[in-house]
Amino acid sequence: MLLVALCAGCGDTISTTGLQGEGGEGGGDGFSARQFYLDQVHPELVQSCAICHKSSADCTPKLMAEDGETSYDTLKSLPGMVTHPDNSNLIHHGAHTGPTLTLAQETLTREWLSREFPTKPIKRTQVQALALLGSCMEFDEFIDTGVYKFAYQQTQFGPCGACHKTGEAGAWIGYNPEEMFVKNTRLPWIKRLVHPVYDKDKEFIEFRPSNRFIDKPELSNQCGSAHPSALIPAKLEQSLVDFLAVSMVHYDAENCATPADEDAP
Ligand code: HEC
Ligand code: HEC
Repeated sequence: MLLVALCAGCGDTISTTGLQGEGGEGGGDGFSARQFYLDQVHPELVQSCAICHKSSADCTPKLMAEDGETSYDTLKSLPGMVTHPDNSNLIHHGAHTGPTLTLAQETLTREWLSREFPTKPIKRTQVQALALLGSCMEFDEFIDTGVYKFAYQQTQFGPCGACHKTGEAGAWIGYNPEEMFVKNTRLPWIKRLVHPVYDKDKEFIEFRPSNRFIDKPELSNQCGSAHPSALIPAKLEQSLVDFLAVSMVHYDAENCATPADEDAP
């Protein structure tokens, strides 16, 4: 027990012994939580996610491995994965280049993370923060800054709107500005605008711009991706920067309409 307690912050040295457990970071029963991952969650996730996430090649973050033990240790070593379900980006990254979790996968992942983190987070969760940010975005500012113009941005295979007009791959870039606005205030689409940042206790603290509308087309060649490429004009880039900045001002002031779907745990 003492060794385990002393080694709480040095995961690398003992994390593969199977000894670690009792009183994991969130106060959960670490041993059974780990076993639950190995028995129930890993077999589900590995088939959908490991093909891309077992290495960090092609601009893909390394999140897991083919084998359960290594996968568990890798996920645990990252800031935003093994944390309370309402904070975990494993659950809330949503549809992207990869698929969203199936209902069965999400249920098992939530069960596992609730065992790891049985106590309610002290700070505002990522889910609550996303709802607040969404309610802090304003349609007239979406129009004034010009973010809606992304729909018409050309690539060698047509404009963004041609492929993303109904939210493909978690990116909603459509020709109807009202609809594009509303979708981008919600999951999973809002996640293409912002990315969560965590503190050392793996609680959510703030958002940073995720820049996906810019990086996706601009870095596609260098990421070895077949995604159409485009150099986003400075003015259009600035529209996204400005829209997020003004939305964050409302968010920080917290003077926004009450989020419709507070979704308290
Ligand atoms: C076809 C490849 C592919 C598959 C399959 C895939 N992903 Fe991804 N994933 C990516 C790429 C590329 C990124 C980086 C760009 C981004 O942020 O979306 C990423 C990013 C992520 C992130 C963000 C990491 C962070 O630091 O927060 C999470 C979480 C994630 N994926 C989870 C999953 C899960 C869960 C699955 C399985 C259900 C999955 N992915 C399947 C390609 C994939
Ligand atoms: C010819 C169809 C097509 C066009 C045009 C297109 N996309 Fe995509 N986009 C896709 C497909 C397919 C995916 C899912 C596979 C992938 O991630 O490469 C995707 C994924 C994405 C994602 C989510 C995944 C991530 O890595 O964050 C973003 C954001 C994105 N595209 C932005 C854009 C932008 C911005 C434009 C216009 C400059 C654009 N796309 C033009 C087909 C297209």
